[in-house]
Amino acid sequence: MSNLLDKANVYIATNKKNTKNHPKFHYTAPIGWINDPNGLCYFKGEYHLYYQYNPYGIHWDTMYWGHATSKDLIHWEHKPVALAPEEDYERDGCFSGSAIEINDELYIMYTGHLDRNNRVRQNQNIAISQDGLTFKKLEANPVLKEIDLPKGSQPEDFRDPKVFEYKGSYWSVIVGRPKEQGGAVLLYRSDNLIQWDYVGIIAESDKGREEIWECPDLFKLQDVDVLILSIIDLQETNMHPTIYKLGNVDLENSQGEWNYTRDLDCGFSFYAPQTFLDSKGRRIMIGWMSPWDADDAVRLENGWAGMMATPRVLTIEDGQLIQKPIEGIDQLRQDKGEYIKEKVICNEGESFDNISGQHFDLSFEVDISKANSFTIELAKGKNNSTQLSYNVHRHEWIFDSNGIRKVQEDDPKETLAFRVLMDRYSIEIFADGGKRVFTALIDPDEDAREIVFLSEGKTALYNVEFYSLI
Ligand code: FRU
Repeated sequence: MSNLLDKANVYIATNKKNTKNHPKFHYTAPIGWINDPNGLCYFKGEYHLYYQYNPYGIHWDTMYWGHATSKDLIHWEHKPVALAPEEDYERDGCFSGSAIEINDELYIMYTGHLDRNNRVRQNQNIAISQDGLTFKKLEANPVLKEIDLPKGSQPEDFRDPKVFEYKGSYWSVIVGRPKEQGGAVLLYRSDNLIQWDYVGIIAESDKGREEIWECPDLFKLQDVDVLILSIIDLQETNMHPTIYKLGNVDLENSQGEWNYTRDLDCGFSFYAPQTFLDSKGRRIMIGWMSPWDADDAVRLENGWAGMMATPRVLTIEDGQLIQKPIEGIDQLRQDKGEYIKEKVICNEGESFDNISGQHFDLSFEVDISKANSFTIELAKGKNNSTQLSYNVHRHEWIFDSNGIRKVQEDDPKETLAFRVLMDRYSIEIFADGGKRVFTALIDPDEDAREIVFLSEGKTALYNVEFYSLI
């Protein structure tokens, strides 16, 4: 084992007892800062979650790959750090990447980051593991470098390979910046994961957009090609949207035809998601709940920063991506729950006995055909709350948490189904049956436990189910 890995693991073991207030069912590191999920896979009977990790502090810094395993994607076991930035080609960080299983071995493809003399350079590397715990980096690394970029590219933005197999070849989508402005998804092909050929560009920013693309993911779902991207929007400060595109990709000819683009999450704290297939062959997505806007005091007090969102099962319905929390959440239900079959609310706010808290699973449906707007207010205390409203006439969502975000629907809605997961520091709202998801990291006071259903006009509330979660 390398010195850097040893040192990190000893540091974690010695200092993790000083951390506190971890969420109950969202993954956090034992200590320190985490960002993107990496190398997600089901390998040798277990799920593996690797992630961008700085064990030594509560802010982003030189990146390692942390590691955890799980049988059900809900209960995670911390494992020793998997990758440390020990080679010359990755001195300033082992950045994001993905995993692929070949003949009982786990191969990961990840970005080496170099930041020297004001010159940032990024390259791609391969490491192999028999057990998912320890990795051997290839002598041939880096397998993709600056010279493998299309002409005119900015070498400082070449990262986050997502590798997959298709028709007997290996393919990797990697973000690049072939023009001065805007991002692109570059496609590479290989027979052995070592020699790679550049194939072409399968998606690009709109002309002139000042943005950086990160963490591409490309997969087929119900015969549709789905591309997921995380974006640093340089025009709008503080916006880090994740989007998805639906369309058709012809890998051999490097053609991407995208006919639908939408926000993947409409909240404030969901970034760099990655997908993989679970043991049942379903497409699962895990994203990073990013503490960009979170108060530093919370991090300092708790000793950790950043967590993984609840794993979400993806499907396509009516030409849109649907996200649903993984069913393992149900095992965390503490009691028999509360149930209300029907209740009409008219120009008022209504809360219910025993339907309150900071760790819960709440679902309900509303008929808003006679309402002007419907609002669910969560984590309400003396000083603040998180609110999601739907304005019936404008077909518009308004999410009010760390800021205000508005999202317009194309078509009017008369009924809506909601599922809300709260875990003290986070709220994930799966609205409209999972077509719209709003994720936020929050820092509520201890007493901020109230849940209020509000209606302007008349809203019929159905099948309210509430469970406290362990
Ligand atoms: C996304 C990202 C990736 C990069 C990693 C570095 O959050 O910026 O593009 O590989 O984080 O930690």
